[in-house]
Amino acid sequence: MKKFKVGIIGATGMVGQRFSLILSKHPWFEVVCLAASSRSAGKTLKEAVGSRWAMTEPMPSALENMVVLDAEQDIEKIASQVDFVFCAVNMKKDEIKALEEKYARAECPVISNNSAHRHTDDVPMVIPEINADHIEIIAAQRKRLGTKRGFIAVKSNCSLQSYVPALAPLMDKYKVTKALACTYQAISGAGKTFETFPQILDNVIPYIGGEEEKSEKEPLKIWGHIEGDKIVDAVSPSITTQCLRVPVSDGHTAAVFVSFENKPSKEEILDAWKNYSGVPQELELPSAPKQFLNYFTEDDRPQAKLDRDLEGGMAVSIGRLREDTQYDYKFVCLSHNTLRGAAGGAVLLAELLAAKGYFD
Ligand SMILES: NC(=O)c1ccc[n+]([C@@H]2O[C@H](COP(=O)([O-])OP(=O)(O)OC[C@H]3O[C@@H](n4cnc5c(N)ncnc54)[C@H](OP(=O)(O)O)[C@@H]3O)[C@@H](O)[C@H]2O)c1
Repeated sequence: MKKFKVGIIGATGMVGQRFSLILSKHPWFEVVCLAASSRSAGKTLKEAVGSRWAMTEPMPSALENMVVLDAEQDIEKIASQVDFVFCAVNMKKDEIKALEEKYARAECPVISNNSAHRHTDDVPMVIPEINADHIEIIAAQRKRLGTKRGFIAVKSNCSLQSYVPALAPLMDKYKVTKALACTYQAISGAGKTFETFPQILDNVIPYIGGEEEKSEKEPLKIWGHIEGDKIVDAVSPSITTQCLRVPVSDGHTAAVFVSFENKPSKEEILDAWKNYSGVPQELELPSAPKQFLNYFTEDDRPQAKLDRDLEGGMAVSIGRLREDTQYDYKFVCLSHNTLRGAAGGAVLLAELLAAKGYFD
């Protein structure tokens, strides 16, 4: 397969840094340009990031001297150099919406980590193992935008990347009626490290702006279906969440309670998790975990520090499945928030789109 030329918009940020590491070793994608705000434009990536480099691995040498472009001023220039861009920027929602549409209208597909377009009717929000078929809405979106190649596809919020995959294989057969999830979210999800966020040491902060709404609403779009030129949200299950920030560098944990219309046995749930796979596994996409859902039998697993990097941080870990007195079952799950939950999830979505010919 020819290598696709790729740009990273928001290259200096926490998610952008993850993109640079993942893409520097990617078999299908090659980074040919980087962009961020006007504050970074004109500097090399190394100069622009400075002391903000937050990864444990060093900055890829092929990128450190690449000059950062201005994400808002250099759209045509960037669009002319790449097959598509990844986008992860920290701007106001309406500014991100407009920016991503400008790239799409410049015939440059956008794979986005931002929340701005997640509820745009004809923008697919995809967890590739669960709703790969939603990419078919791109034809309708291209018609609305008047583009041949350009479109926007998004990934969902990092908070739900552990419990939505765990519920997905139980949805059709056993009909999940309601779920409650309390999430314990890592500081990298706020673009922070322990150095830049000392207030989190010895602390738990019971508020993450907008996170509970996203965690309750986005799963319904993922479980929705295409009807004409839109994706129509599912009407169930009913989901309620509380999202807390905890002193963990990477890895969002969720404590989940769930009830069903047809209550499965514990063995049936474990079987459903073990045997669940999707299009990424079928197509053997480069970032697809071989085993998507991994159940730990030990009472003290999964743990963020031990298990977040399972299968390159792209697998989901589950443990402590047991019956509950108020819901049918409860369990704990974990996913890496900047890998599966952000850059890695977006790269997997791009691999799916590449394999299906959307960047041709
Ligand atoms: N961190 C996570 O785990 C996570 C997970 C899922 C989704 N997300 C989403 O991904 C996005 C980025 O998050 P992050 O944690 O990487 O944020 P971050 O570390 O604060 O980085 C923000 C990036 O946006 C760029 N930027 C800011 N203002 C800009 C402007 N006016 N024009 C162009 N670029 C601009 C910054 O460039 P400068 O360096 O030049 O300022 C930087 O590259 C957010 O929408 C976030 O909600 C994050």
